[in-house]
Amino acid sequence: MVRMAREFLERKGVESARLEAELLVAHALGLDRLQLFLQFDRPVGGTEVDRARDLLVRRGRREPTAYIVGAREFYGRPFRVGPGVLVPRPETELLVDRVREIARTRGAGELRVADVGTGSGCIAVTIALEVEGARVLAVDASGAAVLCARENALGLGADVEVVEGDGPATLAEAGRFDLVVSNPPYVAREESGALAPEVREHEPELALFAPAGDPDFWVRTFLERSRDWLAPGGVLLVELGLGQAARVRALAERLGWTAAFHRDLAGIERVLEAR
Ligand SMILES: C[S@@+](CC[C@H](N)C(=O)[O-])C[C@H]1O[C@@H](n2cnc3c(N)ncnc32)[C@H](O)[C@@H]1O
Repeated sequence: MVRMAREFLERKGVESARLEAELLVAHALGLDRLQLFLQFDRPVGGTEVDRARDLLVRRGRREPTAYIVGAREFYGRPFRVGPGVLVPRPETELLVDRVREIARTRGAGELRVADVGTGSGCIAVTIALEVEGARVLAVDASGAAVLCARENALGLGADVEVVEGDGPATLAEAGRFDLVVSNPPYVAREESGALAPEVREHEPELALFAPAGDPDFWVRTFLERSRDWLAPGGVLLVELGLGQAARVRALAERLGWTAAFHRDLAGIERVLEAR
């Protein structure tokens, strides 16, 4: 089954076809990947074959695996995701690493954190679980994202307040924060042709595309406005797209911030840390 699934996905142009075939066949059989190999001689029933075929057909239409199996791992925990909610990306874990490091150097005590554009809640929930004393407010303009983030907070046992609304408008009325963090939409719409079909055709536009075709829209908004949202000594952390850092460095300097940029595993300046 795995071999046939792999060959099918290869023909459909799916990357990492072998891994994906294993994940989807395992999911159809109600197993994890290890059990799939431990039970290699287990007879497979007709319903299981049908279920696997359905999942593979969906994947062949380039629906993201995370939507098909309903989950994606982030920072070692399974987050529920579905259509209408951005699939958490591994590079976003860097932002959480920075939050943990900042919390460690500040020492014990309460840390008020706002996560703007929370999506699945992966950043907010992980901070609440990883950082002692964190009090996290998460906001998203999408109703689907808010429901998903609440479900993840509940399911993973994280104490996060999730609010539906516009990020800046919500923060303006929410008091002051020690950290404002965000992975905002930063893809310019005219670059959508360069996105993989999984992303372009299945993930929500509100989560992908920067307003007004300007990839810097959100980071500029944060640099211009978050002085009003941060407590004294507060820190702004924003995820950036490829090639954004050079422009953002100049902008941050002009607006009087002290800015540092953190590189992801691919060497891309991925996270702005501004004080
Ligand atoms: C790139 S996704 C990030 C999701 C999640 N934080 C993650 O890292 O996987 C951006 C999120 O911002 C939300 N968003 C877009 N415009 C917004 C606005 N004006 N106010 C609040 N959230 C917004 C989208 O709905 C989406 O969930």
